Amino acid sequence: MTAIRNAVFEGRDDDAVARWTWFSARLLAHIDVEETHLLPIYDNLGPFPPNATPAIFRREHARIIETLALIETLFAGERVALCTALCSLEGQLEHHDLREADSFKPRVDAATADGRAAEALAAHEALVKAIGPAPSSTQPKPYPRGGSTRLTGVDKVRWTLAHGDAQGALTLLSELPLGEHPKAPRLREKTRVALRSGDLPTAWDRLRLLHIVMSPGGQN
Ligand SMILES: [Fe+2]
Repeated sequence: MTAIRNAVFEGRDDDAVARWTWFSARLLAHIDVEETHLLPIYDNLGPFPPNATPAIFRREHARIIETLALIETLFAGERVALCTALCSLEGQLEHHDLREADSFKPRVDAATADGRAAEALAAHEALVKAIGPAPSSTQPKPYPRGGSTRLTGVDKVRWTLAHGDAQGALTLLSELPLGEHPKAPRLREKTRVALRSGDLPTAWDRLRLLHIVMSPGGQN
């Protein structure tokens, strides 16, 4: 995901599409193997914690697939929407991985210690082999500078950053009215530090959180 985001931020469109194609194929293969081979095993390993039922994992997979389909349509559109969707997918995957690591993986690993997961592993390996290795990087191609007058707030900062103007993003960030949320000042400071040190993935992630806390009803 970081490589895709960086390619998008830096305007390396061909690289971003190539990396995205590879990443989404691998993610779909992973989900397919879990749905076909591992969740049917997990179905019989209850009782489940309320936040880790088989239905929750299937629902999360469905949502991840929806986000993948959405992102697919955004590569040809406005960059901030693409960046936002990529960050949203990243958040979804973070939560999903944590949930799986907590309950799904330990139970399935214990239940398949007798080798019952061999079929799943073989299926996964075959899919990974068919997809092939990750694409190598292409040369940076500057994205045209410009601005979108209709964007405001964190979205405007993100758009500017997504178009390669970290200094402009810093300026906009300084002028951003933060509202009332107690976490907003600290998130802004963390974003500034990340931008100044050139750590774009962290900057983008802090902006994602800042956008959440500054949204109406933002809680995080
Ligand atoms: Fe999963």
